[in-house]
Amino acid sequence: MTPNDLIHQTAEIIASSRHVVALTGAGMSVESGIPPFRGKGGLWEKFDPMEVAHIQSFMRNPERVWRLLISEMKDILTEARPNPAHYGLARLESLGKLKTVITQNVDGLHQLAGSRDVIEFHGNFAWLWCLDCGDRARTVDIDVNPGRLPPRCGCGGIYRPDCVFFGESIPMQALDRSQMAASSCDLMLVIGTSAVVQPAAFMPLIARQSGAVVIEINPEPTPLTGTTSKLLVQGKAGSAVQQITDEVERIMAARRQP
Ligand code: APR
Repeated sequence: MTPNDLIHQTAEIIASSRHVVALTGAGMSVESGIPPFRGKGGLWEKFDPMEVAHIQSFMRNPERVWRLLISEMKDILTEARPNPAHYGLARLESLGKLKTVITQNVDGLHQLAGSRDVIEFHGNFAWLWCLDCGDRARTVDIDVNPGRLPPRCGCGGIYRPDCVFFGESIPMQALDRSQMAASSCDLMLVIGTSAVVQPAAFMPLIARQSGAVVIEINPEPTPLTGTTSKLLVQGKAGSAVQQITDEVERIMAARRQP
């Protein structure tokens, strides 16, 4: 099947679906300038995630985690803007096809692009909270001075990002809602995730076991390819999602013709 055939077939399946859910990962935001974690240019090629992204590392040495990971991510994330893939999913939602985005990303770009129902499986980097008093602060409002890390709350407590570190559990509401969405969809689009981190990577399996079709959009195959997912649209999310969404609009308009 040629890439265009795959785009058309995916669009046909979306146009015929009642309840589409998307599971997105870091690859969704690569074209917004945010590096992925694994694969070419991935953060985990530079840092050991157990050293810089595990809750025990953070509690043992918050200054080091802030210096190595968080302050670098802060600049990238506050500058990043949605790309055509984010806007394409928001368009699929306004067409009444996509009901929910389950994202592993903490960049808030789906909401910025106009998606309304977004489950943030790993939290959101837009907020920090104080380990002592729980005070919440917007990340953009906190001046991260390399000479004065970790940033501290007025009470003297240390600020941590409102993201899920390795070694922490997924927020219960996010997990419950994601499992509900995965088990009630008839199509799951799995976009830009290596599908190796649990429990997020279990959502496509729940969808498949509930009778849904699973389609991946990714330049590379993943452990889901050929087993859980029916199709792999091999390409970058930005162009693939935009082409697919354009095609869905054409198909839906043609079906409305008398
Ligand atoms: N378009 C679509 N997919 C892309 C693109 C792109 N332009 N560029 C890269 N990819 C794909 C890669 O092929 C890979 O499969 O995106 C995926 C990125 O994988 P990861 O970096 O592992 O990101 P993700 O799957 O979201 O990681 C899951 O691991 O470290 C934790 O908490 C972190 O949420 C993250 C979780």
